Amino acid sequence: MKNILFVASEGVPFIKTGGLADVVGSLPKEIDKKYYDVRVFLPKYSCMRQEMKDKLEYITSFYMDFDWRSMYVGIMTAVVDDVRYYFIDNEDMFNTPRPYTDDPLFEIKRFAFFSKAVLSALPTIGFRPDLIHCHDWQTGLVPVYLKERFQNNDFYHGIKTVMTIHNLRFQGKWNVKDVENITGLSGYYFTPDKLEAYKDANLLKGGLVYADAITTVSPTYAEEIKSKYYGEGLDGLLNARSHDLRGILNGIDYSVFDPAADKRIPHPYSKSNWRKEKIKNKIELQKELGLAQDEKTFMIGIVSRLTDQKGFDLIAYVMEEMLSLDAIQVVVLGTGEERYENMFRYFAEKYGNKLSANIYYSEDLSHKIYAASDAFLMPSLFEPCGLSQLMALRYGSVPIVRETGGLKDTVQPYDEYAQTGTGFTFTNYNAHEMMHAVRYAEKIYYDRKKDWNHIVDRGMAADFSWKKSAGEYQLMYDWLIG
Ligand code: ADP
Ligand code: GLC
Repeated sequence: MKNILFVASEGVPFIKTGGLADVVGSLPKEIDKKYYDVRVFLPKYSCMRQEMKDKLEYITSFYMDFDWRSMYVGIMTAVVDDVRYYFIDNEDMFNTPRPYTDDPLFEIKRFAFFSKAVLSALPTIGFRPDLIHCHDWQTGLVPVYLKERFQNNDFYHGIKTVMTIHNLRFQGKWNVKDVENITGLSGYYFTPDKLEAYKDANLLKGGLVYADAITTVSPTYAEEIKSKYYGEGLDGLLNARSHDLRGILNGIDYSVFDPAADKRIPHPYSKSNWRKEKIKNKIELQKELGLAQDEKTFMIGIVSRLTDQKGFDLIAYVMEEMLSLDAIQVVVLGTGEERYENMFRYFAEKYGNKLSANIYYSEDLSHKIYAASDAFLMPSLFEPCGLSQLMALRYGSVPIVRETGGLKDTVQPYDEYAQTGTGFTFTNYNAHEMMHAVRYAEKIYYDRKKDWNHIVDRGMAADFSWKKSAGEYQLMYDWLIG
């Protein structure tokens, strides 16, 4: 049996702000239990739903030196779907109204604390991982601390590490002096070949330098991040480590995202009866959100963090024109940057029966949108993988995406001559190119319904479950552990 430990800052069903949580909550379940014992460490945020907090059992606690203090580390545990989860508890660090705060120094502090606490906790929980799989900058110090202090101890000796990049934009950067102080790492670690980047300390960089292998969440993004445009300043390092870097495509949990068995949608449907049933979800949603009720109107869904990563500049640029001229309805669900939240509120005021702006977070509504919409718009500036388009495909909502990162790897462009493809795509980050792709989709939807329906059929038949990718992770684990 090989022991694998996931360490991450969020995971379904405990806490979620985006796709990272979906991956952390679904991949461990798919790793073969005959050969691997996969467990997961998360912070115990006080903003977790009460129902989830109630599941946690206290195991033990100890004090750990950190940031010139002796700090309490509580360890809690729960088992969900046969996967054991552990939680690091400390009120000063994780008692916040949301999982993340806007204070970059505090973020560095709490996740440096988390990384050290996870390593410190291992002997007390009696689980010695053969490999620690770290996710995003919040866990970048795990490979660093492991090499720096823990590996001298027999218990830790030989533990391998993998660093997975879910989003290279976020790196956990702050000035060297403060980070040195907080982490207790010596000046040796803060040079440009280690944790320092462009004069700052950089936690993700630490992980990328010290991990035994690096992965990211799609093959195309794995290539893109070696370029200046997508490299976020770390392309040099990623090129230097390109032999240890691979892209493994994310999957989604097919038991949660299953239109035939989804309790969150009013009218479940399958690959064989969607033509009759899916439309009923559209009517229900139009009713619920106060949109004009018409089963024929082309409905575009957007479920997203409202950040510039997701291409909202392009949408802002042409939304007025499209809402005033096109026979469309747009349903938005998302939170994020105020300028985008306000843009959608403005359009919802002006075009009340055509656009519905839902500026909040809701699992229920997200499923209803995947089920009700005809198309799903995701014109990202960059996209490490993207899970929303996979959910859309499964629910028969045709993705309209920019050809970048995982979007390029998962949405096959429609070819009207060969009658192939699962979605509509465009190449350049340009608002009119995006509008052209949307209007092309509209045209096929309204004028060539049969062809449209076949696009939906192909999308629903595509397989983005974890099966294949879980196998790729296992191969990598075996190769590293030996
Ligand atoms: P990212 O991780 O960059 O945000 P992904 O496409 O990988 O993008 O994953 C986004 C996940 O978050 C999907 O599961 C999507 O349904 C969900 N999501 C995003 N915004 C919301 C929201 N406001 N309410 C509910 N779910 C949301
Ligand atoms: C990040 C990326 C997204 C990816 C998700 C899960 O949030 O932005 O593209 O799907 O992580 O890996």
